[in-house]
Amino acid sequence: MTKITAAITAVGKYVPEDVLTNKMLEKLVDTNDEWITSRTGIKERRILKGEGKGTSYLAIKAAQQLIAKKKLDPKEIDLVLVATATSDMQAAATAVYVASQIGATKAFGFDLDAACSSFLYGMSVASSFIESGKYKKVLLIGADKCSSMIDYSDRATCIIFGDGAGAVLFEPNEEGLGLQDEYFRCDGTGRNFLGAKAGGSKYPITKEGIEKGEQFVYQDGKTVFKNAVFNMADVTEKILDRNNLTKDDVTWLAAHQANKRIVEATANRIKLDSSKVMMNIQKYGNTTSATLPLLLADYEQQLKKGDTIIFAAFGGGFTWGSIYFKWAYNS
Ligand code: UT7
Repeated sequence: MTKITAAITAVGKYVPEDVLTNKMLEKLVDTNDEWITSRTGIKERRILKGEGKGTSYLAIKAAQQLIAKKKLDPKEIDLVLVATATSDMQAAATAVYVASQIGATKAFGFDLDAACSSFLYGMSVASSFIESGKYKKVLLIGADKCSSMIDYSDRATCIIFGDGAGAVLFEPNEEGLGLQDEYFRCDGTGRNFLGAKAGGSKYPITKEGIEKGEQFVYQDGKTVFKNAVFNMADVTEKILDRNNLTKDDVTWLAAHQANKRIVEATANRIKLDSSKVMMNIQKYGNTTSATLPLLLADYEQQLKKGDTIIFAAFGGGFTWGSIYFKWAYNS
C-alpha cells in the first residue's frame, strides 16, 4: 500500500493595511531607524486597527484568500487549526469562529499555542491527522494580532512585533512529498524571559495589574536572543544530520522571523548561502505564529515541486524546533 504523506497544496495570506514604520516609532519611544534596522532587520510592520477586530479577522482574510486561489469548496475542509498566541477571547477557540465565518460548516476546529513555534508545531499536528488517514483536508492558519499585547511606550518590544496571518492547506500525497521529519524541543524556564504576566489563570486581570501594565508582553531581549540563536541553529543542524542532508540538498531555509541576525546565525551554522534564506522581516516584523506561512505566501511563486525546505522556529516558553519538508507543487 502506498504510504500517505501530508503535503501543503495551497497558501493564503493577509496583512492589515496600516503600516507602522521605524520613523513613526521614533516619535513614540527613544529609538531610531538605524538602530532598529541594524539590530533586527525590521523597517516596518502592519497593525490591525478597528474596534472589535481580533486575530480571527486576520485569520479569516488569509483563509479566504487561500479558498479563492485554490477554488476550494470550504465545506470540504475537515479541520481548521488556528496557531496563535493571541486568541480572540478566553474559553472559546478562535478556530471555531473562523471555521464558521469561512463556510467550513462540516469542519471541527481548535487553537494551538506555543508562542512563536505555534505554526511549526501546528504543521506536525495537521500532518498527523492527514497521515493517519482520518482527514483529507486540514486548514492550518498562523495568525497573531501582536499589537493587542504591546505597550507602545516600551522600546524593548514595540519595535519588534507586528500583526498578520498566513494559511496553508494540508492534503494527502502519494508521491512522498510534504512533511518528512521533525525535531521539537521546549524548556519551561523560558517563560520568565518572554511573556505577558496578567490575563491568564495565574494572574487574572485586575485594576492594579492593568495600572502596572502587566497585560503587556515583557521581554528580556538578550537572554531570548542568545537562546534563540543557539537552539534554532542546533535543531536545524540536527535535522540535516539525521536525514543525511548537506547544505547543497537544501533549497530553502524558512526560519521564524524574530530578528534578521537570528535567522542569519541559523543559516551560517549550516553554511547556507543567503540566496536560499527566505526573509520578509523587513516588511512585517515579528508576527509570532504568522511568520512561517507569510514566508511561504511571499515566496510561493519561487517554490518548485520537490524543493527541500527546512523550517525552524524559536519562541516564548521556550519552544523551538525544525521540520524537514518537501514542497508539492509549482505555482
Ligand atoms: O520570537 C521569538 C522571541 N523574540 C526574539 O527572538 C527576540 C530576541 N531578542 C532580540 O531580537 C534582541 O535582543 C533585541 C532586538 C530585542 C535587542 O537587541 P540587542 O542587540 O540584544 O540590544 P540590547 O538589549 O543588548 O541593547 C543594546 C543597546 C543598549 O544600550 P547600551 O546599554 O549599549 O548603551 C540598549 O539600551 O541598545 C539600547 N537599546 C535601544 N536603542 C534604541 C535597546 N533597545 C533599543 C531601541 N532603540 N529600541
